[in-house]
Amino acid sequence: MSTPHTHHDHTAHHHHGPVVHAPAADAASAYQRAFDAAQPDPGRRVVPIALEASEIDWTFAPGSTTRAWGYNGQIPGPMIEARVGDVLEIRFTNRLTQPTNIHWHGLRVPAAMDGTEMVQRSIAPGETFTYRFRLPDAGTFWYHPHSNETVQLEMGLYGALIVRGADEPELDAERILVLDDVKLDKHGQIATFGGLIERHDGREGDVRLVNGKAEPVLTIPAGHVERWRVVNASSARYVRLSIGGQPFRILGTDGGLIESPVTVTEVLLPTADRVDIAVGPFTAGQELAVEALPYFRKTIRKRKTERFATLKVGAPQTSRANIPPHLRAIAPLAAPSTTPTRTVKLGFKPSWRRAFDFVINGEAHHQDKPVKAGELQVWDIINTTLMDHPFHLHGFFFQVLSVNGEAPAWRSWEDVVNVPPRATVRIAWMPDDRPGSWMYHCHILEHHAAGMMAHFDVV
Ligand code: C2O
Ligand code: CU
Ligand code: CU
Repeated sequence: MSTPHTHHDHTAHHHHGPVVHAPAADAASAYQRAFDAAQPDPGRRVVPIALEASEIDWTFAPGSTTRAWGYNGQIPGPMIEARVGDVLEIRFTNRLTQPTNIHWHGLRVPAAMDGTEMVQRSIAPGETFTYRFRLPDAGTFWYHPHSNETVQLEMGLYGALIVRGADEPELDAERILVLDDVKLDKHGQIATFGGLIERHDGREGDVRLVNGKAEPVLTIPAGHVERWRVVNASSARYVRLSIGGQPFRILGTDGGLIESPVTVTEVLLPTADRVDIAVGPFTAGQELAVEALPYFRKTIRKRKTERFATLKVGAPQTSRANIPPHLRAIAPLAAPSTTPTRTVKLGFKPSWRRAFDFVINGEAHHQDKPVKAGELQVWDIINTTLMDHPFHLHGFFFQVLSVNGEAPAWRSWEDVVNVPPRATVRIAWMPDDRPGSWMYHCHILEHHAAGMMAHFDVV
């Protein structure tokens, strides 16, 4: 049996401000209760996984070697796959020289398993920590550290996590595309971190990766329709995804399938966002650019269309893909006109010591009021800045009720939503009975680090 920690490390807490931390004994017993309570559904199983974070030599393009950090020697870390009702038991060992932890982005886990510095002590070098939780929802999720994120994710610590449900649409094949970018120096090593442009824009790099490889060539048989699960694991880059301008169908978003497929020719993936799409059919010989169209999120530096991968269409094969017109029902949580219960203001604040901070309700590393389990939350996320911010809520899915007063084109469950400059995004979510400390933040990692985050309790 694991215990959460063997000793305390405070180094990672310095930026959190005047937050009252739960006493260690409480955190340890909440962890033990969550650990013991995680039981698989009848007929489902406990999926044991061993993860180890360590320094590795990373070859993302032939002939180059970059010192990086990976899980189990690879970038992305191993893809974790399980089914709804399974229990994941992840025995994690930290072989880095700095403390870390693992956050299960998008999973509705108990607070004690959320993997943040609020709910557990950092896992010191050499230590092992076991996460154990049941998987309640099907979808495309991911995992990453919640400690020194700007460095640890850029160095390569992230991986995809797929949970399959009982009624998934049948496609010819499935693939995961974990998108990332890295910023290299002239020696091909990960560039030094920091600086005011990086603090403002977030860190973007010129090497674009799919599953840890720079601009790979993918192949698809003509006539086939594949399910692509796309994760944007980059620190700050928004990916306005296009597949050679061809139409594709959106099947699901952060919290699983949407109600009916939606045909589009592009989709915007802010940092940390996911989308499941049906890709194809194409004709033999076609060659398509899997690329990011220009998206200007009001950064100091601008970007053009940039390629992530090339998709080559091979000889035809018969398709057995069957995408039903109706994927599932999503009951609305609230009407778009519902009066908000809370306002969350994303702001920018000059600071004479650090030039500027990114803040929530005027405060860097804000402590927000608690919410009560079972009480519907309707939040207005108001962006008072001139840049986009991807708002992320831990541990709970929300529905977007409106963006600047307008209802979205379809209903979905999300844990990340883009809040455009000066916009108001109204979301609704229901805190279920998972008391403890939670957080929300901008998922541009540098903005999160610069203060655009808040803690709150579910009571
Ligand atoms: Cu991807 Cu605080 O999380
Ligand atoms: Cu998260
Ligand atoms: Cu931001």
